[in-house]
Amino acid sequence: MSSEPVVATAYEPKGMKFRNLGNTGLQVSVFSLGGWLTYGGTQKGSIVKEILKTAWDYGIQTFDTAETYANGASEVEMGQALKELGWPRDEYVLTTKVFFGTGRKEPNTRGLSRKHIVEGLKSSLKRLDQEYVDVVFAHRPDPATPMLEIVEGFTQVIRNLNLAYYWGTSEWSAAQITEAILLAEKHNLIAPVVEQPQYNAFHRERFEVEYDPLFKQYGYGTTIWSPLASGLLTGKYNEGIPEDSRFATNKAFFENTVKGLKSPEGQAKIEKVRKLTAIAERLGATVTHLSLAWAASNPNVSTVILGATKLEQIHDNLKALALIDKLTPEIKKEIEEVLDNKPAGPNTFGRQRL
Ligand SMILES: NC(=O)c1ccc[n+]([C@@H]2O[C@H](COP(=O)([O-])OP(=O)(O)OC[C@H]3O[C@@H](n4cnc5c(N)ncnc54)[C@H](OP(=O)(O)O)[C@@H]3O)[C@@H](O)[C@H]2O)c1
Repeated sequence: MSSEPVVATAYEPKGMKFRNLGNTGLQVSVFSLGGWLTYGGTQKGSIVKEILKTAWDYGIQTFDTAETYANGASEVEMGQALKELGWPRDEYVLTTKVFFGTGRKEPNTRGLSRKHIVEGLKSSLKRLDQEYVDVVFAHRPDPATPMLEIVEGFTQVIRNLNLAYYWGTSEWSAAQITEAILLAEKHNLIAPVVEQPQYNAFHRERFEVEYDPLFKQYGYGTTIWSPLASGLLTGKYNEGIPEDSRFATNKAFFENTVKGLKSPEGQAKIEKVRKLTAIAERLGATVTHLSLAWAASNPNVSTVILGATKLEQIHDNLKALALIDKLTPEIKKEIEEVLDNKPAGPNTFGRQRL
């Protein structure tokens, strides 16, 4: 008998680390790649394929997009790239998100009604040229739709229509997530298993405090976004706005962010980036690597979603992988002193679990 596998493989894990997506059996690469503002936005055509291929060559097997990114063009670009790359479908994890629609005005083309969950996901799959996604996210909560209808809608796309294997939430409150989980349990429906929140050294409160009970009680997974605070944590904005950077190429969207950088609070952030840079350099790394490794070192993070407009950024960012285990408690304490923004957490009235 030959030991050759009978099924073709395109994937080599290289040094990649993997984590279960929360309490599920689905395993995701600790760094993944997303398409917000980039694919279908500033980057189109062969560069998208090249970036995905480079990520894959580092062991990244998880990719994220959304119906709303570039009004659907992100899904088209990423779907086209995946098709041309021809990887076996069971070797990669693909996630998309519904809620914001694709820029149309009719009220049912957005939100989380059962109608838009089903139709939105079907349209996403058409743009992606895929039969299913592994995870579909509710891109925001929808106060205009009853929670039971939302849970039923996602159960339907998974259980009845086979359009996804799991569903998740994005920027929902812990209370909303808990409500969805409890309703699913009560009505024998499928509960969400993962949240997609912003998490980086400058944005910590919700992840570290509000979601903590979800991690403890439900083993809720997370795919975190903007780990570099849109590039701020690379140091590229320390001296102004470079021409080919996100804050310049998406000027209107980041107008307030750029204004904010000139304020005392903004300048204090830049000062922190400079101080983090000094710590990183002592470790033979950059502040980009340090920021990504810091986020990935939180055990409640299932995967850190990277964004990249250039091949070099993938080559650079993946150096963070080797740094994760070098962030000793002493180094983390030093980072904490620089950041000086550790969320306090709730009052425990002197009680703690032993
Ligand atoms: N669920 C949600 O609401 C939500 C919201 C936002 C994002 N997301 C997801 O999370 C993903 C990642 O978020 P993000 O793109 O904001 O992540 P990010 O890591 O904070 O920012 C990525 C951007 O920073 C710049 N950059 C990256 N690496 C760099 C490097 N080594 N040196 C210099 N510049 C570098 C690039 O922009 P430039 O080259 O243009 O400067 C890149 O596009 C998105 O693609 C999306 O899938 C989800």
